[in-house]
Amino acid sequence: MNKFKRTLITTALPYANGPIHIGHLAGVYVPADIYARYLRLKNEEVLLIGGSDEHGVPITLKAKNEGITPQDVVDKFHGIIKKSFQEFGISFDVYSRTSADIHHETASDFFKKLYDDGKFIEKTSEQYYDEENKQFLADRYITGICPKCGFDKAYGDQCESCGTSLSPTELINPTSMISGNQPVLKETKHWYLPLDQYEPWLKEWILEGHKEWKPNVYGQVKSWIDSGLQPRAVTRDLNWGVPVPIEGVDGKVLYVWFDAPIGYISATKELTADWEKYWKDPETRMLHFIGKDNIVFHCIIFPAMLKAEGSYNLPENVPANEFLNLENDKISTSRNWAVWLHEYLEDFPGKEDVLKYVLTANAPETKDNDFTWKDFQTRNNSELVAVLGNFVNRALVLTQKYYEGVVPERGELADYDKKTLTSISKIKAEVEKSIDSFRIRESLKNAMDLARLGNKYLADEEPWKVIKTDAERVKTIMNISLQITANLTICLEPFLPFSMNKLRDFLNLEKLDWNFLGDTELLKPGHKTNKPELLFEKIEDKVIEAQLQKLQATKKANELTEAVATPAKENIEFDDFGKMDIRVGTIIEAEKVAKTKKLLKILIDTGIDKRVVVSGIAEYYKPEDLVGKQVSVLVNLATKKLRGIESQGMILCAENADGSLSIVEPDSKVKNGSEIK
Ligand code: MF3
Ligand code: ZN
Repeated sequence: MNKFKRTLITTALPYANGPIHIGHLAGVYVPADIYARYLRLKNEEVLLIGGSDEHGVPITLKAKNEGITPQDVVDKFHGIIKKSFQEFGISFDVYSRTSADIHHETASDFFKKLYDDGKFIEKTSEQYYDEENKQFLADRYITGICPKCGFDKAYGDQCESCGTSLSPTELINPTSMISGNQPVLKETKHWYLPLDQYEPWLKEWILEGHKEWKPNVYGQVKSWIDSGLQPRAVTRDLNWGVPVPIEGVDGKVLYVWFDAPIGYISATKELTADWEKYWKDPETRMLHFIGKDNIVFHCIIFPAMLKAEGSYNLPENVPANEFLNLENDKISTSRNWAVWLHEYLEDFPGKEDVLKYVLTANAPETKDNDFTWKDFQTRNNSELVAVLGNFVNRALVLTQKYYEGVVPERGELADYDKKTLTSISKIKAEVEKSIDSFRIRESLKNAMDLARLGNKYLADEEPWKVIKTDAERVKTIMNISLQITANLTICLEPFLPFSMNKLRDFLNLEKLDWNFLGDTELLKPGHKTNKPELLFEKIEDKVIEAQLQKLQATKKANELTEAVATPAKENIEFDDFGKMDIRVGTIIEAEKVAKTKKLLKILIDTGIDKRVVVSGIAEYYKPEDLVGKQVSVLVNLATKKLRGIESQGMILCAENADGSLSIVEPDSKVKNGSEIK
């Protein structure tokens, strides 16, 4: 810290088009919150900044799909997000939003300053335009075939199948998602931040000056810079966002990635009139907590914006995390594959700390990690309950039992006692070493080591046995156990704030700052502790199964929609369709084809003739139920021998998501032989 007086911590502003899920939490908010709580415990001056990112195309798309306004969308999710963060105990000093006036003003002024200072270049280019809706199409509004992998629902900015980033003009058969028409290219003017001009400076500032950044962050930045930076458009043709503050410019807004990071500044302004000291005083250390998909924006683009503006600090570190998967599958808001924070809070009331613990113990700091409900249960049951909870409970309960809650005095110390006391005093340095370099997962482990130490100490010393023979000795054991417990309330406070609050109540101990950590006389002999309750409780199998079932249901639902949405085949000429002769017929007889599971031999009155069709629907229809049913039959299909039976045509069926078949029949009785066209 030395050269800094205070820390400004920003957390990536989540898009207000969905609720918060465990991926957001593990990657950004939990580590940022732990770090902020840690600094506060050290009595350092710190701000934790958050807010909702309420602009951008996906929000307008969602609004359109649901027939509501973008403002409706963000109002709804900003509300859900803010409430869930608060209940979960993310200790934001401010949680703002980018549709707020103060943000529009701040972002607009920021742009204006760069514009007036000549920091942008203006460029006219051809972009796709939807003539029916009279609007330019954002990259995300255009779909088409990926030139790399052939996936037919690639977006104008990226193919989600092969991951390639694209520009809209690379798509084959581009289609406007608004009208479904083929868009046309039309000229439009935009403002660009010439990142190429910042390249030498970025090289020096990051590649030379910040070699201490996490390897995953440094590596990504280096590869961006090495592959050459291009001017980046900072405006868009859209009518949702911060309007471009230039005379005579209409229907254009600031690109969401231009305005969103400025949201950190707006939020600070919203919090305090003294905001400039957090942003401009070189004695303030700025840290951005983000996920890996945000690295380029926070390490290259936003710093270049700040540099161009000229009066702001640059980030001192950007401890970005990798991704968290859920049960071996990528978390996805659109596919509803997530554990949603607001649902967790409902399903697991009072267990905020359990989720914080699991997400930290398994944080995706150096590589992608997987959240599984089984692991959640195990970490709760065998770490929080069996180690931490068990230890503090024993220490407190035995103190009640032997001394009516009063802390006993230590007597002569055995070697094991001395060793244990030394270990207590070493914890502080260990936790600091890891947390100060943003290895938060490791720092939790270091802090939990103190609980493990206590648990082992009690188990080895067995005061419940010794009490029968040497009551004096037990006083020492219990005193030491209680000192460990008191130290736990400090070193675990940043990680498990709700539980440590409870534990302090049990100990009848005030909140102590970080500097007390390692003190082995936090509880003076004679101090009265309270009757404890359980700190953590076991999570039963059935609770975990219920969560797994919920996910299973999501999987099913996704398979249904994904199956229905199989890609359309290539276009055909009308004549191709006309070649098919499809008639309505009535089933006269049906029987199973011997020794097959799937096949039925069906006799149909097609109006033209009576003919036999062999159909693979035996698993879905009983022969007797079919008689009298009207069906659609392709009658001019080349005949085919199946199991020795000549099949003269095909009965048309719709395939369900699970692969089962439903006969396609007219919705009212039709004359046999009627053509289907
Ligand atoms: N909304 C973005 C995301 O979720 C993050 C924005 S971070 C900010 O990926 F810096 F732009 F605010
Ligand atoms: Zn592709």
